[in-house]
Amino acid sequence: MKTRITELFGIEHPIIQGGMHYVGFAELAAAVSNAGGLGIITALTQGTPEKLAAEIAKCREMTDKPIGVNITFLPSFAAPPYPEYIDAIIQGGVKIVETAGRNPEQYMPVLKGAGIKVIHKCTSVRHSLKAQSIGCDAVSVDGFECGGHPGEDDIPNMILLPRAAEELKIPFVASGGMADGRSLVAALALGADGMNMGTRFIATKEAPVHDNVKAAIVAASELDTRLVMRGLRNTERVMNNPAVERVLEIEKEKGADIVIDDIMELVAGVYPKVMIDGDMDAGAWSCGMVAGLINDTPTCKELIDRIMIEADQLISERLAGFRAA
Ligand SMILES: Cc1cc2nc3c(=O)[nH]c(=O)nc-3n(C[C@H](O)[C@H](O)[C@H](O)COP(=O)(O)O)c2cc1C
Repeated sequence: MKTRITELFGIEHPIIQGGMHYVGFAELAAAVSNAGGLGIITALTQGTPEKLAAEIAKCREMTDKPIGVNITFLPSFAAPPYPEYIDAIIQGGVKIVETAGRNPEQYMPVLKGAGIKVIHKCTSVRHSLKAQSIGCDAVSVDGFECGGHPGEDDIPNMILLPRAAEELKIPFVASGGMADGRSLVAALALGADGMNMGTRFIATKEAPVHDNVKAAIVAASELDTRLVMRGLRNTERVMNNPAVERVLEIEKEKGADIVIDDIMELVAGVYPKVMIDGDMDAGAWSCGMVAGLINDTPTCKELIDRIMIEADQLISERLAGFRAA
């Protein structure tokens, strides 16, 4: 399939694996890229710029296809050394960066100067337009359904994607709730040039996470996620579990007076316990509503091939069949 996104990134299929904390390692990124999509290593998960450089080198050994690196700009007081992370990306020869969180404007000159294509992930049309205006090459439009941080506007992709299509000139991918060929065809119909998936890629053979995580996603329905940290304006969609229920109780008790310290132990430092140790109730971890559409753990190649075959059949048979003769 050829779209503005496949052309921009030099990939075969318009399918991106979004950056994911403690999931976005070389094994998954290489598997997605080898299957014709765009695999993305998550910078901050590596812990230091040196470790990111090593992870990029490892990924390069595993694939000669394009790969990307995600840099998430966190709303934290002690900012990670972003310039050093960016240097590791440039030195590693990576030509695609997915930015997320705060606006990447201050880093655009150095990224563009190194010939890097930037795709910024945003949850609203206004942030997408801002990304376009500061020189981003594409955006990943994350709807309310998404795993992780859906923002505070609560606009689902059925509305958000066509709104983005009405306003944007640069290409964009649909993100949040994407799982299969139906998602891809719907995303294209709504004006996107491809799709970005997070939760779906965790339940794959190559995702380097504990099997308990994959089993939890396969077992979950679309009813099993919750929104936490609303009152802190840092909303996150997570898999429900007893720790999340406790967070919600505390949030209800504290109301507008909530501060991050009230829930810190239930939301911070959780990822290694969940993703490495398989302790599924350790705290709040991101998961999309799309878990309700995930029923197996294929390889990335099986998944992507299946999506492309299904999309092709949907377009050439089901949709074409609706045309009046
Ligand atoms: C476990 C998990 C961790 C994530 N971590 C990050 C992250 O560190 N940075 C980021 O930009 N997005 C992160 N995301 C968001 C994904 O990149 C992607 O935008 C989102 O999962 C799309 O929604 P979906 O899960 O419905 O496919 C994470 C998502 C999940 C499920």
